[in-house]
Amino acid sequence: MKTQKSKILIVDDEPSQRELLAGFLNKKGFATKCAGSVAEAIEIFENEGFDTAVLDLKLPDGDGIELLKKLRAIDPDLGAIFLTAYASISFAVEGIRAGAEEFLEKPVELSQLEILLRKLTDHRKIVIENHALLETSAMNLPSEIIAESLQMKEIINIVARVAPTDAIVLITGESGTGKELVARLLHSGSNRSQKPFVPINCAAIPETLLESELFGYEPGAFTGARKRQSGKFEMASGGTVFLDEIGDFPALLQAKLLRFLEDGTFYRLGGTELVSPDVRIISATNRNIEKMVKSGTFREDLYYRLNLIRIHIAPLRERSADLLKLAKIFLNNFAKKHNKNIVGFTEDARNRFLRYDWFGNVRELKNVIERAVILSRNEYIPANLIPVNDEDSQETITVRKLDLRKLADIEREHILAILRYCNDNQTEAAKILGIHRNTLRNKLKEYGIETE
Ligand SMILES: Nc1ncnc2c1ncn2[C@@H]1O[C@H](COP(=O)(O)OP(=O)(O)OP(=O)(O)O)[C@@H](O)[C@H]1O
Ligand SMILES: [Mg+2]
Repeated sequence: MKTQKSKILIVDDEPSQRELLAGFLNKKGFATKCAGSVAEAIEIFENEGFDTAVLDLKLPDGDGIELLKKLRAIDPDLGAIFLTAYASISFAVEGIRAGAEEFLEKPVELSQLEILLRKLTDHRKIVIENHALLETSAMNLPSEIIAESLQMKEIINIVARVAPTDAIVLITGESGTGKELVARLLHSGSNRSQKPFVPINCAAIPETLLESELFGYEPGAFTGARKRQSGKFEMASGGTVFLDEIGDFPALLQAKLLRFLEDGTFYRLGGTELVSPDVRIISATNRNIEKMVKSGTFREDLYYRLNLIRIHIAPLRERSADLLKLAKIFLNNFAKKHNKNIVGFTEDARNRFLRYDWFGNVRELKNVIERAVILSRNEYIPANLIPVNDEDSQETITVRKLDLRKLADIEREHILAILRYCNDNQTEAAKILGIHRNTLRNKLKEYGIETE
């Protein structure tokens, strides 16, 4: 099957620039159309669809940012790349940051443009596929789930495909990344959604009780067991059981769980009759389960059963688009809840967000913002209400050990760390580092750092 070319709209008032870009992109397999003004761009856009727009910031009859807003009113998923002179970059970054847009300095480095365009068109494919999947599946994406980053959009994509099946799913990720939220989404998108969703925290229930909790018991199974009691698996019949903290599942019970997953049956505690409730199993853990399998604390055969479909949620510090969006939404919600007139964060506060590690992920973010909203006396949350990593805090720097590494080694390490923070987004990284993008690029070459 021949794949369709991605369509790019180029808007620049300089004919030579338009020709250069269009010529290059056509050679690279894109389909292009050019416009020289806001009015011309809108006219073309109303007649045919595009995947991405490459926009000059300054146009004879308006600016690129305004133009993008108008184009997005027609197609909300349109990707965009702004061409800017260096001086206007910070203005541009401040001006919008709605997700799928990038900034490129003039003069445009063509290879860079190609990389960005491929990234944005891939992004758009996933977004459009998600719309289609969500429309055809029974799933309604609840408004409270935020998926701005590409990583999170990919997860929504998998969820939409997997939810309607009975497939066993294992969800992994650090604490507070949203594992339970994704599990609930899988349940609500399935035809079991009208039946119970039963979460069980395997780490919180004592080993001796877990077996009867899950599998139920017969009279006389143990002292005090007077009548038959169904376990969670039976209670969830027709629905979904969410085995949370599966990494803590007791070794002694792992065989019984495996058997249930393999042939769908088990005996209640003290029972002789096989029961076979119809449940779907979703499990989750924040532990490194592969490592546990290697060290022999988790059964390998059980792991393979649970790991049929794997959804891994990246830590929040690697999803800056989600981080900023969630921060904004939590801010609005808590300002309303606590009746405070707070409209945003100061720039310093926002910078702290991006530097902080958020080991407690979304849950920590939520708590930090609620606390900041309660304590803030200003319309804009000040930086001192946002936490810093220990190694960043001024107080702890004073007694630091003497570092005898070469300056270049320290610089290389710092650049790598910032790039990681920014998901390899060089424009963002250069901004945080306080250097020109080209300087950053030269340093990457010098230190042999490869980015995508
Ligand atoms: N993408 C998201 N959009 C909106 N809210 C989110 C998102 N991810 C997580 N949350 C919120 O963050 C909190 C923590 O999420 P959840 O309980 O699902 O995390 P978890 O991974 O199960 O954590 P733990 O490992 O500690 O059990 C919840 O209040 C959840 O609603
Ligand atoms: Mg959880």
